[in-house]
Amino acid sequence: MTQTASRKILITSALPYANGPIHLGHLVEYIQTDIWSRFQKMRGNECYYVCADDAHGTPIMLRAQAEGITPEELIARVSEEHQRDFAGFNIAFDHYHSTHSPENRHFASYIYEQLKAKGHISRKTITQFYDPEKQMFLPDRFIKGTCPKCKAEDQYGDNCEVCGATYSPTELLNPKSAVSGATPVEKETDHLFFELDHFGDMLKEWTHKGHLQTQIANKLDEWFESGLRGWDISRDAPYFGFEIPGEKDKFFYVWLDAPVGYMASFKAFCDKTGVNFDDFWKKDSDAELYHFIGKDIIYFHALFWPAMLSGADFRTPNAIFAHGFLTVDGQKMSKSRGTFIMAKTYLDHLNPEYLRYYFAAKLNSRIDDLDLNLEDFVQRVNSDLVGKVVNIASRCAGFVVKKFDGKLADNLSDNAKTLYQSFVAESEMIASLYEKREYGQAMREIMALADRANEYIDETAPWVLAKQEGKEAELHESVSVGINLFRVLLTYLAPVLPETAEKALGFLQLNTLDWNAIESPLIGHTIQKFQPLMTRVEMDAVEKMIDDSKQNMPAAQAQAAPATVNSDIDPIAPEITFDDFAKLDFRIAKIVNAEAVPEADKLLKLTLDIGLEQRQVFAGIKSAYQPEELVGKLTVMVANLAPRKMRFGMSEGMVLAAGPGGKDLFILNPDEGAQPGMRVK
Ligand code: MSP
Ligand code: ZN
Repeated sequence: MTQTASRKILITSALPYANGPIHLGHLVEYIQTDIWSRFQKMRGNECYYVCADDAHGTPIMLRAQAEGITPEELIARVSEEHQRDFAGFNIAFDHYHSTHSPENRHFASYIYEQLKAKGHISRKTITQFYDPEKQMFLPDRFIKGTCPKCKAEDQYGDNCEVCGATYSPTELLNPKSAVSGATPVEKETDHLFFELDHFGDMLKEWTHKGHLQTQIANKLDEWFESGLRGWDISRDAPYFGFEIPGEKDKFFYVWLDAPVGYMASFKAFCDKTGVNFDDFWKKDSDAELYHFIGKDIIYFHALFWPAMLSGADFRTPNAIFAHGFLTVDGQKMSKSRGTFIMAKTYLDHLNPEYLRYYFAAKLNSRIDDLDLNLEDFVQRVNSDLVGKVVNIASRCAGFVVKKFDGKLADNLSDNAKTLYQSFVAESEMIASLYEKREYGQAMREIMALADRANEYIDETAPWVLAKQEGKEAELHESVSVGINLFRVLLTYLAPVLPETAEKALGFLQLNTLDWNAIESPLIGHTIQKFQPLMTRVEMDAVEKMIDDSKQNMPAAQAQAAPATVNSDIDPIAPEITFDDFAKLDFRIAKIVNAEAVPEADKLLKLTLDIGLEQRQVFAGIKSAYQPEELVGKLTVMVANLAPRKMRFGMSEGMVLAAGPGGKDLFILNPDEGAQPGMRVK
């Protein structure tokens, strides 16, 4: 095993807003980061993981007002709740801070003043909506009105959720303040802007130097093409935040001081522990800096933040690691379905290690969304963790304790040593998968080893040996090897399952599960009586958690389908809301290829061009068309339907066709108006 020189690493997760509880979506990120941090520490690196609450901004100010408390009281309470939930999931921050802190005020002001001194801050007069009753300027999200394009009512001031149009709040028809209901008036005000375009060259270079995932670097190119614009970094009073030095009644926009919170949290940690702050943040630092974030906040981390840091002469991050969003059972988390699950609700019913393992098994280094499928969750945790890993120890430990006084064999045969070494030989490969954040692949490799360990136990059959005369030595070797292989597996899993690993240390009578300690097996070592390390997940507990998550929601509004009136016509499906409907993305699609699926008498396999990309869709319209007739025709498809695995391949959408289902199905002929990719409204 190679021992490379210890690295200095600072890791962060995005700072959760202090106006709401932690839910399972957030936990994708904190679990992903915590695994990486624990892994780096186990490898002997000097690694710190810091985070904080993101405490500023209008929503937090208004929330406190609504509760009749001060913002300080609100953020103190939420901070406690957040930290309780994180601890419940074994997220081991080295320090957890707040952006509403003296350290953060210091660094936010310092960075701003550096940028200003270098001419990167400008002042412009803008016109913004103002609530005359509340006497405050209104952020876009706090104005509602009628969409200027499709005339849908009750839309936010920045974009229409019905037709997808984006506009400025002043274009809304019949605008109303969401705070007071008053009709807002337009009012001029001076705002401060950070001149991002001064950093165009620096950013173009930085974003293509391996600091970003490829998918993201490509996305940013689109932004570069449309031009970098000044970033509005000031907000007028009343605002909960830091006052801008040298200005009156102007505050830093929450997103200006939020990433600075990474520094502030680390500074507070350094002051507490004596670690050297500058070693990690000065311009030529050789320490590594990584930010784990969700894909929704890339813009702030991959453009504004590196520009701010470089403008103020600090180092820039080594990498931004973005992840995708969590869905539950294939759909966006939903309050009415009970899949908007709070961390606390989960912990009331289930062991945090289950979710850590499940997320690990699903995570990779890309920004794809990941799905928590509840049945798969139960099945996978039970079969992998309980059925494979813990089972190894429970099959062997009893014999070690009862027959050999808890002592492992004093020596091992060559065969046994070879088997053990073959497990250790995977160490660097598994480490490199963790390092690359390919946790899913790492879990698969570890489970393959667990299978091999179980096979060894099956082959040597200790329960048979135990009943035979003169087989003590063989029995002793078999169960000693089993325990040793278990120790290697637990070492590999420790970043993911810290609590289980901790319990296993007690049972194995060891002090640490350091990555390199597995090099030699435990020989003549005494272990403790086995305690079950983890129990099976019961679907019952999962269902109770879902029920609990529905508790606070208004009674489900779904209505039963009316009784069938005419047997030729399908009954009307349960009512959906307008919002449900608005989620469907209908696109004009050009059929570029169509082939019959020989094994299915109704299906055609279609290749559809929707402008941005091509999709493969299986459609049950073989009875109506010869495949050749369809090529070149246009149809309408639902473009945002979750892909479905069918017997013949993936189906990535749904084609809409009306008719009795026989010969008469309708497909559009190309005409001048319709273009592939056009959204149908
Ligand atoms: N306060 C900002 C971050 C400031 S960082 C300087 C924020 N807060 S948040 O509470 O909305 O989100 C915190 C993190 O959780 C973000 O990285 C976000 O992407 C992530 N997630 C929130 N909901 C999520 C899912 N449903 N799925 C996966 N991650 C999600 O953004
Ligand atoms: Zn609209």
